[in-house]
Amino acid sequence: MRLIIIGPPGAGKGTQAAKIVEKYSIPHISTGDMLRENIKNSTELGIEAQGYMDKGVLVPDHLVIKIVQERITRDDCANGFLLDGFPRTVAQAVSLDAELDKLGIKLDNVINIDVDKDLLVNRAISRRVCNKCGATYNIISNPPKEDNICDNDGEPLYQRSDDTEETVSTRIQVYLDQTSPLIDYYKAQGLLSDIDGTKDITDVTEQIFKALDN
Ligand code: AP5
Ligand code: MG
Repeated sequence: MRLIIIGPPGAGKGTQAAKIVEKYSIPHISTGDMLRENIKNSTELGIEAQGYMDKGVLVPDHLVIKIVQERITRDDCANGFLLDGFPRTVAQAVSLDAELDKLGIKLDNVINIDVDKDLLVNRAISRRVCNKCGATYNIISNPPKEDNICDNDGEPLYQRSDDTEETVSTRIQVYLDQTSPLIDYYKAQGLLSDIDGTKDITDVTEQIFKALDN
């Protein structure tokens, strides 16, 4: 299974990705998570990316294209992968197609999670994430058992620095301007599965599994 999951900020890409990679035993490749890891480790890439991410705008194409190209050629991607948050521009999609051609492989499906704009800001600002395992919660729709503590490992939860109302609004606009054209791009390739992301988490997972099993 070679998959892409696409959708606006707060649509539930990371939440659903965790379930998909468990079912299909494929690696979850999130460019957002990779960039945040680089920021945490103060790498050259992290230092360059941070300014863009704090503003809610995209990191330049050449930087993310490079990390994805390197990542998808690793051994654990031999039987597939799930790309979350990449591609995000038409230039990224074109370069991914060229890279897949070079490797002699094809995408199987592009899962497009559709959620109304007014739901997105609330979902993002009430998101909390585990510092250690990356599990994602929501203080309204998907709270941990104990306040601010991860169910998996007892570690404290944190709020992403780009989950402020202002930055989320910028990220939504950036999605509409630069990423949403990919919906037509992949529809034209016959790869798109439209998923109603306004439903609850289990319902969305069921829709995705049904689309992939077809
Ligand atoms: P990234 O980390 O990819 O952020 P994003 O696309 O803005 O998406 P999010 O992670 O915010 O949302 P999500 O869809 O994963 O939602 P989640 O499942 O967590 O990118 C961050 C930044 O990195 C970008 O702004 C950019 O600067 C840079 N970047 C990354 N990739 C790049 C690229 N390719 N090119 C250039 N720059 C790049 O869910 C959200 C919340 O809602 C959670 O609390 C969750 O519990 C809850 N929730 C989920 N589903 C439901 C549901 N069905 N009902 C109710 N609540 C739900
Ligand atoms: Mg995410």
